[in-house]
Amino acid sequence: MTSCTTTSWTANDLPEMTGRTVVITGAGRGLGLITARELARAGARVVLGVRDPGKARRAVVGLPGTFDIRPLDVSDLTSVRAFADSWSGDIDILVNNAGVMDIPAARTADGLDLQTTTNHTGPFLLTTSLLGHITDRVVHVTSELHKQGRIDLADLDWRTRKHNGMRAYQASKLAVVLFSLELQRRLTATGSPVRSVLASPGIARTTLASHSRSNVINRLTFLTNDPERGALSLLYAATQDVPGNSYIGPDGPGGFRGSPAVRRPGKAGLDPAMAGRLWEATADLVGTVAR
Ligand SMILES: NC(=O)c1ccc[n+]([C@@H]2O[C@H](COP(=O)([O-])OP(=O)(O)OC[C@H]3O[C@@H](n4cnc5c(N)ncnc54)[C@H](OP(=O)(O)O)[C@@H]3O)[C@@H](O)[C@H]2O)c1
Repeated sequence: MTSCTTTSWTANDLPEMTGRTVVITGAGRGLGLITARELARAGARVVLGVRDPGKARRAVVGLPGTFDIRPLDVSDLTSVRAFADSWSGDIDILVNNAGVMDIPAARTADGLDLQTTTNHTGPFLLTTSLLGHITDRVVHVTSELHKQGRIDLADLDWRTRKHNGMRAYQASKLAVVLFSLELQRRLTATGSPVRSVLASPGIARTTLASHSRSNVINRLTFLTNDPERGALSLLYAATQDVPGNSYIGPDGPGGFRGSPAVRRPGKAGLDPAMAGRLWEATADLVGTVAR
């Protein structure tokens, strides 16, 4: 993995995407919608996996390109399995974008922690279930806050500890980084050409922090990217020729704002033994939820 390389890359630098299929989760608004819009404008067939297909349909009205809108709630393992089971054909690029931040403690229909499942466990199941269809890469959307993350493998799903919304977010985004590391290791070990790539938007002024008591994104406007610029990390990670397990984030101080560049994740995200253990713990967790 290379260290920071500054670019002035914009969405105008996207390659021609005609003939390529991109699946983006949570793409009915926010960074996912911008990413969908730009990839469709570049010619890709973009599949939006969303909780509210009607809302997503309204969001893409009038946008140029081909959009295919399908129901997907990444926090609901039945929905994730239904999406994956109904898929046929190749997926060039899967972008695991859907996410929530610092939400109050809540359990999913499967009895799992809502934030951890939305940000990590659901995308883990989706990715591993779709892997046989993916031809180019998986983009995992993480956060600079993964650097503060601590994962308790004995309590990955927040059953025994007192719940803390921000700590659960930080841990889930560290889990995303470690999932990418282990996925790339497994892909490489089997000789697969598929890449696992990380994207961090920096801090982008979307509605993500609306649940957060600290509302950190919206308080720090002087440090932040507008959503269009935040989405560039996702677009760069999805389309540029970067090595497997590259970490793409803004090139400004702290990785908070700026243009997309190859950066380094936090040290905890580079621990292969932990990445392997987390894979097993997540697979066990998914396995406890009956089909
Ligand atoms: N904005 C930032 O500064 C920032 C920084 C670091 C990382 N990120 C990451 O970037 C990603 C996108 O965030 P954003 O800033 O665009 O936030 P956002 O505007 O709040 O959008 C979040 C998206 O995720 C979707 N979503 C949430 N739960 C879902 C579920 N269970 N199933 C399917 N979709 C679900 C939402 O869909 P609904 O419309 O159905 O709610 C929405 O489309 C997240 O993974 C976030 O953690 C953002």
